Amino acid sequence: MSGARCAIVLAAGQGTRMKSSLIKVLHPVAGRTMVRRVVDAALGAGCDPVIVVVGRQGERVRQELADVPQVRFAVQAEQRGTGDAVHSAAPALEHFRGTALLLPGDVPLIRAATLDELAAQRERDGALATVLSMELDDPKWYGRVIRDDDGGARAIVEARDCDPQQLRVREVNTGLYAAELGFLFGGDGTGGALATLSPDNDQGELYLTDIVAEAAASGRANARIHGDPTEVLGVNDREELARVEDLLYRRTASAWMADGVTMHAPDTVRVDPEVVLAADVVLEPRVQLQGATRVATGAVIETGAVVRDSTVGEGARIGVGSVLRAADVAGDAQVRPYTVMMGINEKKPRETRDEDRVRVGADARVGPFAHLRMRSRLAGRVHLGNFVETKNTVLGDGAKANHLAYLGDGAIGARSNVGAGVIFCNYDGMDKHRTDIGEDAFVGSDSQLVAPVRVGDRAYVGSGTTVTKEVPDGALMVTRARDKVLPGYGDRKYDKIQARKAARDAGGERGGK
Ligand code: UD1
Ligand code: MG
Repeated sequence: MSGARCAIVLAAGQGTRMKSSLIKVLHPVAGRTMVRRVVDAALGAGCDPVIVVVGRQGERVRQELADVPQVRFAVQAEQRGTGDAVHSAAPALEHFRGTALLLPGDVPLIRAATLDELAAQRERDGALATVLSMELDDPKWYGRVIRDDDGGARAIVEARDCDPQQLRVREVNTGLYAAELGFLFGGDGTGGALATLSPDNDQGELYLTDIVAEAAASGRANARIHGDPTEVLGVNDREELARVEDLLYRRTASAWMADGVTMHAPDTVRVDPEVVLAADVVLEPRVQLQGATRVATGAVIETGAVVRDSTVGEGARIGVGSVLRAADVAGDAQVRPYTVMMGINEKKPRETRDEDRVRVGADARVGPFAHLRMRSRLAGRVHLGNFVETKNTVLGDGAKANHLAYLGDGAIGARSNVGAGVIFCNYDGMDKHRTDIGEDAFVGSDSQLVAPVRVGDRAYVGSGTTVTKEVPDGALMVTRARDKVLPGYGDRKYDKIQARKAARDAGGERGGK
């Protein structure tokens, strides 16, 4: 089973420089926690199982990854160094042989392909340990990769333990490795490289980096230089968190443009890596597409729209400043880590369910400034105009609500028209109720439909009506008071007021304002 791969992800540390009550690896980057992004990359490189080493806030890390069947957990009770952290995964991998990818939990930009190549190189070369390195102009505090005269990797030396000559080395350790499991943990009578680590260094820690010298001792260590240092950037503080997130959004934007998506001002467009777009989608400036969103070909998402966990059909147009999202705050991947951190929702809120997704049909027009909430379903050619809010409402083919409306917990049949200012009064203070409008119906402006209520096919609701009982198919309902016209009333009133004003201006009357 030389092809078998597993991964060990280090997620035990606090991340002090984040100055957060949430541990570092649980901070989200483009809508997913860092640790989940690293786990995703490991899974993409064919790793199974993925052992996540937890320590601080271990329970929260377990919750965060509870839905990933390949993930198992190991506990590092005390932070005794990176070597000790990997060692604590030993019991979880007792019967496993093959390649282990050793990964820090704070490198969210790492790609599956890079991990796949790293593991493949170890497997091809029969190396005990292959370290992923990179060349930096300013190698700062990174561990230096020390090579033999013949170019083979001999050791990694932490900057603080380097002599002046070693400090000049520009090839550094990214902190990612592929290693042979038997070599790490032993078995077959040997103790394994991790058991031989000594804390004989400046920090008095058990350094994982020392496995490279150990493998080199039997001539089976190597280093693979990675060309893109941004991909292995670690996150240590909020500034780096923001930078890494910017890079991930930019990388995602470039990939979509290469696949035929038009982006106006791509540096301002934020598309989460999990979003799926079709060719000939157009994204205007400052658009945000998040979570499990899908956009079909020819759709245009206008400036500043935010679309989360939603589906946008072919040729649809989502207007300026519109918001489409399936979940209210608690279930939202973007904010979930923070609500958990703040104790607002300790138990893991559910992921957005499929039936909750907002769906916009082909050639629909939404907004500007529309708000489509969970379970809003728009069939083809629906028009929803400015300041229209929908929730749990289905609109049939070609239905329209063009201005200022709240449409909650209802259905509107095909081709029906809902006028300006119409409200579905769905809430009685305790329960929510449904409003059903049939096909080809017309609901006049400024009407309230007090749910539960039904308006039939081809029914007509006069403007300003408060509908509290069923409007049968083809009927008219109006609750307006009767019109009254008094000819000349306005003229008489006008003359009277003018006369009083003239009297006041002549000083005869003291008027207040
Ligand atoms: C490590 C490498 C260094 C490399 C750098 C790249 C070592 C000794 N040094 O340094 O050569 O250039 O990464 O970023 O490995 N962790 C645990 N348990 C521990 C200690 C650490 O889980 O007991 C986790 C940390 O939370 C962190 C990761 O391991 O996510 C790396 O540890 P850190 O102490 O930050 O090592 P670096 O100084 O970054
Ligand atoms: Mg570090």
